[in-house]
Amino acid sequence: MSTINDTILVTGGAGFIGSNFVLTWMKANSAAVVNLDLLTYAGNAANLASVEADPHYTFVHGDICYAELVGSLLREHRPRAIVHFAAESHVDRSIVSPEAFIRTNVMGTFTLLEQARTYWSELDESGRTGFRFLHVSTDEVYGTLGPDDPAFSETTAYAPNSPYAASKAGSDHLARAYFHTFGLPVLTTNCSNNYGPFQFPEKLIPLMILNALEGKPLPVYGDGKNVRDWLFVEDHCAAVRRVLESGRPGETYNVGGNSERANIDVVTAICDLVDEMRPEAGAAARRELITYVQDRPGHDRRYAIDAGKITHELNWKPAERFESGLRKTVRWYLENSEWIDGVRTGAYREWLTENYGERRNAGTKGLGT
Ligand code: NAD
Ligand code: TYD
Repeated sequence: MSTINDTILVTGGAGFIGSNFVLTWMKANSAAVVNLDLLTYAGNAANLASVEADPHYTFVHGDICYAELVGSLLREHRPRAIVHFAAESHVDRSIVSPEAFIRTNVMGTFTLLEQARTYWSELDESGRTGFRFLHVSTDEVYGTLGPDDPAFSETTAYAPNSPYAASKAGSDHLARAYFHTFGLPVLTTNCSNNYGPFQFPEKLIPLMILNALEGKPLPVYGDGKNVRDWLFVEDHCAAVRRVLESGRPGETYNVGGNSERANIDVVTAICDLVDEMRPEAGAAARRELITYVQDRPGHDRRYAIDAGKITHELNWKPAERFESGLRKTVRWYLENSEWIDGVRTGAYREWLTENYGERRNAGTKGLGT
């Protein structure tokens, strides 16, 4: 029987949400963080440059699918919690190449759960009671909503439509089963679309900011009326911290921004912000760059989150409004050109050609590239 430390093990802490989580955690907390990240195209150790030298921070370059590595990290650091962000996270990539999604999101989560179960079962009683496995998931597991449907709640039936959503649904089911079968203290959060600093520019908001800045076409899928519920990333991180400290093991919590927006409205808002912050004398308004392109196959029409449970049980609600959060985000991308240059590698450019080349139609020359 052994004890636990105050340490937390974060997976995927070099990605978009994970790095925001580690940075905000370390600002408010003296407890150590071990960050296990494979540094795929989406992971960037430079996101964490400001905490790199902090003795409370340890970076481990590795794969959550390697059971031995995960087991040895747990035995060495004896964390009181695992906060699991690591995933393949981009729907379009899951349509082009789904296999990596099954590997990391399903097998990787399974490996973590198995190793956590072994570690947890060998803890003393207070360690077992205090330990938490927080599985970070998405609202996309619930599928799609019609315009008048009620928002997703924790009891909405799962109906994933993309390989990404299906792989996350699989991981959610495994997390649930490890609580019910083995008693592992698992918590799951299902969050809506995040935006903010450090988001890889394959996702809607950073892609549109960068293309607008550079005068490139802004590729809007389908009719642009698909709706997402947007949440500023720091609000998501605050929700994860709240669930970790006060959530009830075995429960799931929906997290959302109460900010449903049609894609076309998000894109025009970005155009207007870029026009305002980076005016170009004599150039046309950035809205003129908007280009409707072929739709995403199986494109979910609408997501909306009912965050009543986390609000009432854990007293969490978003602090940021969409308009102010979007303004902060556009400014961040304008001020961080070095970060942008660092992530726009050859592999990134190949992805743009692969995803947007196919969608080209009359009037969409040079899309994304
Ligand atoms: P991201 O793609 O930006 O980052 C994923 C991170 O995981 C990267 O640092 C990557 O290197 C790492 N990773 C990938 N495979 C790994 C492996 N096998 N082993 C170790 N590390 C690995 O993703 P994100 O947007 O930060 O999302 C984080 C989590 O939040 C994901 O689980 C995602 O499903 C969930 N989520 C995301 C959103 C969103 O809008 N981005 C919304 C709700 C939930
Ligand atoms: P995305 O950021 O990929 O997140 P998700 O698919 O997980 O919701 O896309 C957000 C919305 O924007 C989604 O409806 C697809 C749409 N979209 C575009 O219209 N054009 C683009 O180039 C991208 C990447 C997304």
